[in-house]
Amino acid sequence: MKIAFVGKGGSGKTTLSSLFVRHLVAGGAPVIAVDADINQHLGPALGLDEAEAAALPAMGDRLPLIKDFLRGSNPRVASAETMIKTTPPGEGSRLLRVRGDNPVYDACARPVELDGGAVRLMVTGPFTDADLGVSCYHSKTGAVELYLNHLVDGRDEYVVVDMTAGSDSFASGLFTRFDLTFLVAEPTRKGVSVYRQYKEYARDFGVQLKVVGNKVQGQDDLDFLRAEAGDDLLVTVGHSDWVRAMEKGRPPRFELLEDTNRQALRLLRKTADAAYDRRDWERYTRQMAHFHLRNAEAWGNERTGTDLAAQIDPGFVLGETLAATV
Ligand SMILES: Nc1ncnc2c1ncn2[C@@H]1O[C@H](COP(=O)(O)OP(=O)(O)OP(=O)(O)O)[C@@H](O)[C@H]1O
Ligand SMILES: [Mg+2]
Repeated sequence: MKIAFVGKGGSGKTTLSSLFVRHLVAGGAPVIAVDADINQHLGPALGLDEAEAAALPAMGDRLPLIKDFLRGSNPRVASAETMIKTTPPGEGSRLLRVRGDNPVYDACARPVELDGGAVRLMVTGPFTDADLGVSCYHSKTGAVELYLNHLVDGRDEYVVVDMTAGSDSFASGLFTRFDLTFLVAEPTRKGVSVYRQYKEYARDFGVQLKVVGNKVQGQDDLDFLRAEAGDDLLVTVGHSDWVRAMEKGRPPRFELLEDTNRQALRLLRKTADAAYDRRDWERYTRQMAHFHLRNAEAWGNERTGTDLAAQIDPGFVLGETLAATV
C-alpha cells in the first residue's frame, strides 16, 4: 500500500506521517517511510537526533545508482542518462518490493528503531530553489517517483510518504502514485484552500483523497472542516501532549499516545487498507505513460536528446503477479 500525507506547510504532515508509521510498525507491519517534503523533518519526528538525521543518505544524490539499477536490462532504456523521473518500467526492468533487500535500499534506506519494530527510512534530501521547478531534471522527488513506479507492493505492507502539496508533484504525476492520500488540514481558510486545489488536480486521475483535520480544538473547528470538506473529511486530530513531549526530545512510549489519537490512527489504517480493493494496476501503468509523455514533450526529449516516448513498453503492466526481480 502506498500512502501519502500532503497539506499546507505546518499543517502537521510530518507529525501525522510519523504517528501513522509508528502505528503500523507497532502492529507488526513492514513499513518504508519516505521523506519527500521540502522541510525534511520525518527523521526527527521518528526520534532521530540532529546528527543522525543529517547523516541519512539523500535519494536525490543517488539518482544515477537508482536509475542504473531499476533499468536493469530493459532494452528501451539505453542508459541511466536517458532515464528521467517518469521513465516507466518495462520488460527487463528491475522491480522492488517493500520487504527484502536490494541495492536501492542498501544505498538509501536506514532502519529507525521504534516501539514494536523498525521502519526503514528514505529521504529525498533538502530541496533547493532549483528543485522546485516544474521540469527539473534533477528533481529530488524524481527519485521517489521512480521508486514508486518500480514498486510491487501488496496488502499489509506499507510505503508512507511525507510530501508537500506543491507543483513539483503535480507536474510529474507523483500525486497519482498512491492508494490513498491523506490531506492534512488545519481548520483555517488556508488549510482548506490547499485541499480544494489538490482535489481539483486529483479529480481527473481518480486519486483517492481523504482529509484529516489537525489541531482541531472544538465543535466550531469541526463544523468548519465539515462544511468545507464534506464527506472527504475522514477524522480530526486535536492537540497531542504526546507529540509535544516528543518535540521536547522526550518521546513517551507509543502505547501512551492519547486514546482518541490512537483511534484516529486505526481509522487511517482501516481506510488505507480498504483502498486496496480499488487498486487498478492497468490504470496505474497507464498514468505512468501519460505523465512520461507529458514530461518528454515539455523538456525531457530536448534535455536527453532522445525520443523518450520509445521508452514506453506497450505490453507491460506493473502488478503483483509479476515476479519481482529483486
Ligand atoms: N496534533 C498535534 N498536537 C501537537 N502538536 C502538533 C500536532 N500536529 C502538529 N503539531 C506541531 O505543529 C508543528 C508543525 O507540524 P509538522 O511539522 O508535522 O507540520 P508539516 O505540515 O510537516 O510542516 P512542514 O510544512 O514545515 O513540513 C510541529 O511543531 C508539530 O509538533
Ligand atoms: Mg513536514
